[in-house]
Amino acid sequence: MFEPRRRPAEPDLEHGYLDLLGAEKARGSAAQRLMRSRAVPLIYQRYWRPVAGRFLMGLTGPSTEEEHRIALAMLSISPGDRVLDLACGPGNFTRDFALASGDGLVVGVDSSETMLAVAVRDNPMGNAAYLRGDARDLPFRDGSFDAVCCFAALYLIEEPMRALAEIVRVLAPGGRLALMSSCNRGPVPTAAANALVRGLSGVRVFGRDELTQALELKGMSEVERRVTGLAQFVSARKAARP
Ligand SMILES: C[S@@+](CC[C@H](N)C(=O)[O-])C[C@H]1O[C@@H](n2cnc3c(N)ncnc32)[C@H](O)[C@@H]1O
Repeated sequence: MFEPRRRPAEPDLEHGYLDLLGAEKARGSAAQRLMRSRAVPLIYQRYWRPVAGRFLMGLTGPSTEEEHRIALAMLSISPGDRVLDLACGPGNFTRDFALASGDGLVVGVDSSETMLAVAVRDNPMGNAAYLRGDARDLPFRDGSFDAVCCFAALYLIEEPMRALAEIVRVLAPGGRLALMSSCNRGPVPTAAANALVRGLSGVRVFGRDELTQALELKGMSEVERRVTGLAQFVSARKAARP
């Protein structure tokens, strides 16, 4: 799956995941620093994610369990599929994808060493591999994956449109995409909401149509969006080869 020039000559697997970033110290916002801290990954799956999800989705929005069902429905993973869980955190969704893909392969990619340490410890699966890399510069060949999920992360990633372009690139023709990110519900215009929220926390607020339009411009088909609270779920399919 690796682009030949990105295949590591001497893979660093010391911590149970393949580390492509090494000692590189990523700079980042307050939110990014929390994701790289020691404490947050330890409480992420059980406490942090359900609370943050409730805040984002609203009181009547989907629970964490429902989010897992939504991801699986949007990705329609079949046994044998190759699945990318981009910005996988502690592997909380990676586990479900590994169960659904049977004799396929799931790759969880994240830039945080501490998140991946928890993924390796808490969500090891025989058909899942974890990799430390940057969503903006994926090491995979074009069309490597039948399904790509990126939940609760595009709003943290610097240059999210670059990550989106990488997602589309590594999807195989006919491949499915599932995103969950932030959504501006107004009345404050997105630019102003962003200036405030991003300035304070590092979390980007996407305009209602920003992600769907970007995907359509990239030639994705069946682009659909569901807005709940301050979040949006977006699904799409990469056009099959003619
Ligand atoms: C809130 S967690 C999401 C985990 C999981 N996908 C979920 O929905 O619960 C966001 C993750 O994005 C990762 N992340 C942020 N920027 C990244 C980048 N440029 N490349 C890869 N991962 C990144 C963080 O390290 C963090 O683990």
